[in-house]
Amino acid sequence: MNYYITTPIFYPNSSPHIGTAYTTVAADALARYHRLLGDNVRFLTGTDENAQKIVRTAEAHQMDPKAYVDGVVLRFQELWNALDISYDDFIRTTEQRHEVVVQQIFSKLYDQGDIYKSEYSGWYCTPCETFWTESKLVEGKCPNPDCLREVELLKEESYFFRLSKYQDALLKHIQEHPEFIQPVSRRNEMIRFIESGLEDLCVSRTTFKWGIKVPFDPKHVVYVWLDALINYISALGYPDGELLKEYWPANVQIMGKDIVRFHAVIWPIILMALGLPLPKVVYGHGWYLTKDGGKISKSRGNVQDSFELIQRYGSDAIRYFLLREMQVGTDGTYSEDNLVDRLNSDLANDFGNFVSRSLAMVVKFREGIVPRPGQDTLLEQELRALSSEVKKSVDESLSRCDPAGALEQIWRFVARCNKYVDETAPWALAKQGDQQERLNTVLYTFVECVRILGILTAPFMPGIPPRICTLLGGDAGLIRWEEADQWGIINPETCVQKGEQLFPRIDVSQFSTAEETKPMTPEPKQEEQATALEFEPIKEEISIEEFSKLDLRVGKVLSAEKVPKTEKLLKLEIEISGEVRTVVSGIAKHYAPEELVNKFVVVVANLKPTKLRGITSQGMILAASHGEVLEVLMAAKDLPGGAQVK
Ligand code: ME8
Ligand code: MG
Repeated sequence: MNYYITTPIFYPNSSPHIGTAYTTVAADALARYHRLLGDNVRFLTGTDENAQKIVRTAEAHQMDPKAYVDGVVLRFQELWNALDISYDDFIRTTEQRHEVVVQQIFSKLYDQGDIYKSEYSGWYCTPCETFWTESKLVEGKCPNPDCLREVELLKEESYFFRLSKYQDALLKHIQEHPEFIQPVSRRNEMIRFIESGLEDLCVSRTTFKWGIKVPFDPKHVVYVWLDALINYISALGYPDGELLKEYWPANVQIMGKDIVRFHAVIWPIILMALGLPLPKVVYGHGWYLTKDGGKISKSRGNVQDSFELIQRYGSDAIRYFLLREMQVGTDGTYSEDNLVDRLNSDLANDFGNFVSRSLAMVVKFREGIVPRPGQDTLLEQELRALSSEVKKSVDESLSRCDPAGALEQIWRFVARCNKYVDETAPWALAKQGDQQERLNTVLYTFVECVRILGILTAPFMPGIPPRICTLLGGDAGLIRWEEADQWGIINPETCVQKGEQLFPRIDVSQFSTAEETKPMTPEPKQEEQATALEFEPIKEEISIEEFSKLDLRVGKVLSAEKVPKTEKLLKLEIEISGEVRTVVSGIAKHYAPEELVNKFVVVVANLKPTKLRGITSQGMILAASHGEVLEVLMAAKDLPGGAQVK
């Protein structure tokens, strides 16, 4: 199947930001997904350069508009490269290949009577590049709720496009194609807008020179939106290019909700007037807002340098965050704090940790050689069933342009994989001579789960599959979408590696420039500071030899529960290099059991076991305490269970 997907072409009046990036990352995920399906994909993005506001910005920089946009366009392309955007074509509306098509279409529409000459008298918002009638203004200003800026009064000779003539045909098309405008909230909005009556659209300006000239009346330049929308077909070589035959109509045109009106009204009418089919889906997503609720935008100046963010967290993590946080039909909230939280929890703790811990066990128990699995049990059958269910919902979510929904499903599988490790407890199997075949099945299943996760995450985080393929013996052919719910793909005898953490945990406090840094340890409360407590005197000296007898290890807390009928005691299951220990600790007043699960604590690993309330405690965990305050010492970086503390 051919699959054509487009992003809006962005105004290169200033560098792109993380909000702009969402659309392009979402389109990229869909393009990559369709390539994995085997579709013949074309993915178009570009820049919208013939806008009046570009001239104004260039003037403010005392630059020629073309020289100015050339610089900014490079920033766009650099950002898309840094974010691994796999576009097939990048169109600039100042290119010759675009200009000739716009002129040809303008003449054609004029010749067939869809464009006529008259006079425009009304208002114009330059930041929005939109014409407004007096009655639409709000307190004399631009009615766009995201703009509300000054408008300018225009009175000039203009060409007009007969939108009104196509109103009924457009409404009919929308009624007959419920999937045309998505999500449904946007569709309803558009139906109301069209039903309120379309006025003919002013499509030329005479008061400035920047832009594409009307070929038969060169004192007019073509209205920037008419010019810009045409990019989707000029890039395919309208009117008779091979690409146009191959790819038009587009499968998905994705954009922010701010410009759905142009794509669901003006654009389809242009296409109808040209006798071309309409795009199958026009999808309008929400905005990324800052924590205080404002839209991230160039003109609001709340833009964080995207290159710096990518350098700090990596493109995969940024892509994951953007895609995961934007729910269908609503806006998303962007903050560096949220980004770090997602990175640490979803990527480092859940996904990355599963991959490293499961492969580490194959290395530890089978020297890295994937064993031949024995008989399945219910647990493996459950995993298989879940993988098909998840793959199906991912396919379904992506067919609705919902990457957040797809990722949510994939993380259900990640969670199940981690649970499978805990349930099968391979460290315990390893110690039992009669459980070696069972252990083989479990280890084999781990490797298959890692492979499946490499496939499922591929459209969203393109940096991951190559890394997973390397860990699994270097076969790049392991990433085949149709095999995301098939099992038994990895050959026994394959040699796997443990590798580095896919996503190291981030400690934000290391970035002095981060907007808001979160202290890693809680600030002491007022009353705790107030009470001056006596400190214990320092104990008698010991030698380094005596100290080195202590074996301190990092351990991962797998589970924690209160010891019944006690106030102070928690019973913890802690994994240390593939072995699980039970440790009883007197910290129940300071920690809820769930606060400790999945945390990395420091364990005195060679302490003689003792019995506490009938439970054998095999070690002790370290905590700092002073008066009423107690804090368990934790390793903030993702150190594997078993790492030595020296
Ligand atoms: O409108 N959150 O260009 P533009 C999510 N040139 N998406 C955002 C965003 C945010 N905070 N900020 C921007 C134009 N976007 C025209 C388009 S198409 C023929 C011409 C994204 O530079 C979103 O896709 O103002 C939005 O629709 C687009 O950038 C607007 O980009
Ligand atoms: Mg805009």
